[in-house]
Amino acid sequence: MTSATELPTPSNPGPFGHKLRKDFLFPENFTQFNHGSFGTFPKVVQDDMIAWHKRAEQNPDIWMRRDLKPALTETRRKLAELIHCDKDELALVQNTTVGINTVLRSLKFQPGDRILQLSTGYISVDKTVRYICDTHEDVKVIEIPITFPLSDKEILDKVEHAIKEHEQLKDGSRIKLAIVDWISSVPSILQPVKQLVDLIQSHGILVYVDGAHAVGQVHIDLADLHPDFFITNCHKHLIHPTSITSDYKSGFENEFSWMGTTDYSAIMSIGAAIDYRKQYGEDAIISYTHALALEGGKVMAEILGTDCLTPHDHQVGNMVNVRLPLKDVNNPKATYQYFADILFDRYNIFTPAFKHGDHWWTRVSAQIYLEVDDFVRLGNIWKEVIDELNAE
Ligand SMILES: Cc1ncc(COP(=O)(O)O)c(C=O)c1O
Repeated sequence: MTSATELPTPSNPGPFGHKLRKDFLFPENFTQFNHGSFGTFPKVVQDDMIAWHKRAEQNPDIWMRRDLKPALTETRRKLAELIHCDKDELALVQNTTVGINTVLRSLKFQPGDRILQLSTGYISVDKTVRYICDTHEDVKVIEIPITFPLSDKEILDKVEHAIKEHEQLKDGSRIKLAIVDWISSVPSILQPVKQLVDLIQSHGILVYVDGAHAVGQVHIDLADLHPDFFITNCHKHLIHPTSITSDYKSGFENEFSWMGTTDYSAIMSIGAAIDYRKQYGEDAIISYTHALALEGGKVMAEILGTDCLTPHDHQVGNMVNVRLPLKDVNNPKATYQYFADILFDRYNIFTPAFKHGDHWWTRVSAQIYLEVDDFVRLGNIWKEVIDELNAE
């Protein structure tokens, strides 16, 4: 284990930087800056996934009927060790969207129940909440408007204020569930998650932590955080898979170990991904990518003559939001799709652009194979794109 003083940084990258590009699958002329949306895995993880796939194809009956469940249990054990929870309280589902649907559609909502969320929550999560409201009598959403930058205290105050304001209504309704992000998507901001969980639970409200971006980006200790629900980690008894199978009511871990006839190879390769990270250590990966996001964001902001969204470095994980210097924030040409097309087609590069508050921003994800030079190149590309729009 490296000591804190030896942890890799952009100026002292240790094993990281461009030399690690060889571990990944993208072609020579392409640099991936958007792990925040769709990650790409190292080749060894893909090899492992293909091996699981082959094993299933070679003898489907032995795989599905006998070997699958013990293999899934071993994967859950490895993941549980990483995020500090009991393996039997951890279920492997296809993605976070399935996770939130699983929780929301398992809970029993009564008339008068309210669901608290922040306006910066992920769109599919918001839509699932709206679906629950649409399909239940008098179940409503309470949304707290959030515009960053905000300090941790300001975030906590807003949540506390909304809860207390609701308590004063005394109209028989109650906030049953609150949904908070550990790291919001756009803009990407690390939230004071531990304090949020404590605050919400102290008012007798269930709390679901959307940790879509958290695994691998921050240290996770669920034993310490003790949320009621965390991505795929749901407390027992309340929750069943969205697709009910022959294993209904056979125990939480068992129900989630059989999702019907499907390809389990992606889920099975979680073990190989954890092993890949172990060769460097979580501390080293988190330290390098966090420092690179901070430094890379700063360099891009200098090129663009702007700034990064949050002045609080601890609110940055490995994704950084850099302001785009668009003169007219309401320029009708400036759309998510316009920026995506121009980046794909002209520059063979991509980072998502989005409007938040009074500005346009782009979110850039640091990775172990990136260096500050890559951010310089990206900053110059964005400058060209925005200068062109401003000149029109
Ligand atoms: C905060 C947050 N929640 C949920 C999701 C949905 O994740 P998935 O597409 O893996 O279901 C995302 C995706 O980026 C996200 O950023």
